[in-house]
Amino acid sequence: MKRIGILTGGGDAPGLNAVIRAVVKTAYSSHGYEVIGILDGFDGLLNPNGIVSLTPEEVRGILPRGGTILGAANRGNPFARKVVRDGVEVVEDVSDEVVARIHELKLDTLIVVGGDGTLRITQELFEKGCPVVGVPKTIDNDIDGTDVTFGFDTAVSMATEAIDRLHTTAEAHHRVMVLELMGRDAGFITLHSGLAGGADVILIPEIPFHWDAICEKVKARARSGRHFSIIAVAEGAHPEGGQQIFRRAGDEVFVARLGGIGQVVGKFVGEVCGMETRVTVLGHLQRGGSPTTFDRWLATRFGAAAMRLAASHRHGRMVALRGTKIVDVPLAEALAVPKRVDVEGDAVMTARDLDICMGD
Ligand code: F6P
Repeated sequence: MKRIGILTGGGDAPGLNAVIRAVVKTAYSSHGYEVIGILDGFDGLLNPNGIVSLTPEEVRGILPRGGTILGAANRGNPFARKVVRDGVEVVEDVSDEVVARIHELKLDTLIVVGGDGTLRITQELFEKGCPVVGVPKTIDNDIDGTDVTFGFDTAVSMATEAIDRLHTTAEAHHRVMVLELMGRDAGFITLHSGLAGGADVILIPEIPFHWDAICEKVKARARSGRHFSIIAVAEGAHPEGGQQIFRRAGDEVFVARLGGIGQVVGKFVGEVCGMETRVTVLGHLQRGGSPTTFDRWLATRFGAAAMRLAASHRHGRMVALRGTKIVDVPLAEALAVPKRVDVEGDAVMTARDLDICMGD
């Protein structure tokens, strides 16, 4: 039997298990392949115990489950890996070991489910001759090669529910509620949930904001008798001429972690605009839990399509959603530029039409 490997890399996203299940079921029932799962991202290829067998029996019941049965690691880049040599921590390129392990395991294809960082590693492995196929995953929706990544819809749904809940308590107490949302350098989660939840101010990284615009908006609402406001702020948002705020700096192994802009905006609105303000950081609630129907639907279609690509040996490619169709694109093309909110696009235009303050 020919053999497929699958791993899930980077941060988790709702729908990973749906992809794994679809790959396994498609592999066995339509293509006659066996599947092995690689644990904890690329780390599983460097660990003798990092492999598990995946049969249809083993993926039964995982469709609605969040997380990933294979584990994930967002510091597992084999091209820059922290290792201890003679008691000293150094960063090394161990990608040749990964390549050797892929050949040793006789993987006909390695299916990698990941965000931009993981898929970039996948492209580099492809350039080293590895038979890889990519599946785009991230709540941030920042991969250009696909209209939507799975995980995004679930994150937006959670964020929208949070805005709904903040609305009632904001109104009851005549407060400004600031909600900080994830997304790294892309404002999709904040823009979509801000529109869906009816936020009054939406601050995204793509549109640097002006402090006085925020103040004017919440004060204007108060003057018109609306003594509460909702501000949805993306973790990567920043004032015009100012810097993003980081919780932790990055290095050659760790990606920098954004976070803290919500508190800064909240402090400003409280102290300068003179409104009673509270700040909520939704954090990993956006990533945990069961995927929405849309994410299950997309993840399942991505998984089956990835297996079809693998069976036809169309390596170095990534499955993608374009309009309503599942297609595939070269990984290199899909990753050429990161996807960002189109500031002239209809979503931003809609927000402006509805008199939502975009901070500028
Ligand atoms: O890329 C997904 C994401 O959830 C970002 O939105 C967020 O900035 C980051 O990962 C958080 O990473 P971690 O789980 O390592 O804190």
